[in-house]
Amino acid sequence: MMPEEYPTSTFAVAADQGRGAGPELHQFLDRLFDLSGVDLSGYGKRALQRRLRSLISGEGLSGLGELGERIGNDPRFLAHVLDRLMLRVTTMFRDPSFFRLFRDRVVPLLRTYPYPRLWVAGCSTGQEAYSLAILLREEGLYDRCRIYATDLNEAVIEKARSGVLPLDALEEYEQNYRAAGGIRALSDYYIRGKASAVLDPAVLDRIAVFRHDLARDASFNEFHVIFCRNVLMYFDEPLRYRVHQLFSDSLVRLGFLGLGQSESLHLSRHESQYDLLSRRHRLYRKLG
Ligand SMILES: C[S@@+](CC[C@H](N)C(=O)[O-])C[C@H]1O[C@@H](n2cnc3c(N)ncnc32)[C@H](O)[C@@H]1O
Repeated sequence: MMPEEYPTSTFAVAADQGRGAGPELHQFLDRLFDLSGVDLSGYGKRALQRRLRSLISGEGLSGLGELGERIGNDPRFLAHVLDRLMLRVTTMFRDPSFFRLFRDRVVPLLRTYPYPRLWVAGCSTGQEAYSLAILLREEGLYDRCRIYATDLNEAVIEKARSGVLPLDALEEYEQNYRAAGGIRALSDYYIRGKASAVLDPAVLDRIAVFRHDLARDASFNEFHVIFCRNVLMYFDEPLRYRVHQLFSDSLVRLGFLGLGQSESLHLSRHESQYDLLSRRHRLYRKLG
């Protein structure tokens, strides 16, 4: 029988704007959190509802109530739902000119630190951290760097640790690598097998991958660089504020913050704490 707190009515979305989402959605998100430890209450509600609607209709369910019931009965379905709700799209050297700019403007300054620490927050399956590792290696800096790659989703964390690359993406990775100013061939860094390619362990060597929830967890170090690209665009304003506070507390003076192309500090309460190094690439430097 359907638990009372999960009404079976069709998921009503029209009136939902941001945090004023209906009680059904809140109950569903509470249940999701109780079952998985994943808190999506700070996700932008309209996009979340769009994804939930598509999930509900794709599964032929009557509404959010039935979805809530099924995730409680079937752990595999729960994992599937989480995966559909937390978008994990990524690629190597995503927005290649961002990496080119990083090489030209940030790497020379990183050289001045004895032991640079870099945090890739919301790393998905690892491609962004791998790209950074390859770039730093080519610049002769990698041996004294440490990359911390974190994500909320356990499923992507395992993949990020593995260094496995999908064969059908290699051509795109290669093109991005070259456009980003890569000085060799990307294929020098992986071994191609029949079903997948695997990165050279030397690339993974200085990357630590672990679970960290930007919505709930505290900082765990002080960093010279933080990348959080294509993550904050899914968050609502209060959660974005929390995360920017976390980043500004975690960056060293004059440290660098890289956001995704459709993300910005413009008009945020943290904007005055940074210099914008490139508007196009959303690369910021914390003021002294
Ligand atoms: C679209 S991917 C972006 C991956 C990569 N940064 C890039 O730009 O290619 C967004 C990632 O953010 C992660 N994410 C979402 N909410 C998070 C949270 N609260 N804490 C940490 N990571 C989160 C998702 O699991 C997903 O892997």
